[in-house]
Amino acid sequence: MRKNNQIKFSIIALIVFFISQLTGLGISRAEELPTPCPEPRFTKQAPSEYYSLKNPLDSTIKNLKKGKLLYQIKAKPMACKHCHSINGNGKGPLAKGIDPPPRNFTCEETINGVPDGQLFWIIKNGSPETEMFAYKRLTNNEIWQIILYIRELAQK
Ligand code: HEC
Repeated sequence: MRKNNQIKFSIIALIVFFISQLTGLGISRAEELPTPCPEPRFTKQAPSEYYSLKNPLDSTIKNLKKGKLLYQIKAKPMACKHCHSINGNGKGPLAKGIDPPPRNFTCEETINGVPDGQLFWIIKNGSPETEMFAYKRLTNNEIWQIILYIRELAQK
């Protein structure tokens, strides 16, 4: 009887482990390493007509919720969290071995110095010669909503 319970327990533990890995709740070794902050940044600068753009949207609860949903789940072909991670520290499950690494949105010293228009241009067009690809299917409005959410990640 005791042995049966032990087997049951092991099976449950295994199932919990796999679910946590699948949902991204599992903490991998890479995520335990501290993220450099300030973060070295060599990203190509957006053309001036983009660089000077200001976010036209307000940080209303509705816009922030929409931005979060896109970042965490809905953005196609792939949600941002897979690289930039659930909390924005740049250590998502797909970030391992990527060079340059995905931006760490939680590092205020780096991200607060990057203007809205620059973030917008990179999300829309990708960062040349890096793994950050262009999100052609997002509308301008959706990109601005994601940027509102990214700015919040730096405040936590
Ligand atoms: C496949 C991995 C990957 C995914 C998915 C991804 N990114 Fe990135 N992202 C990167 C990498 C790598 C960089 C660093 C590029 C660089 O250094 O120029 C980056 C950089 C950025 C930057 C920094 C721009 C700057 O000028 O500093 C922003 C903003 C950004 N990503 C937003 C997003 C958003 C929003 C999404 C989801 C809609 C997303 N990323 C999805 C890999 C990814």
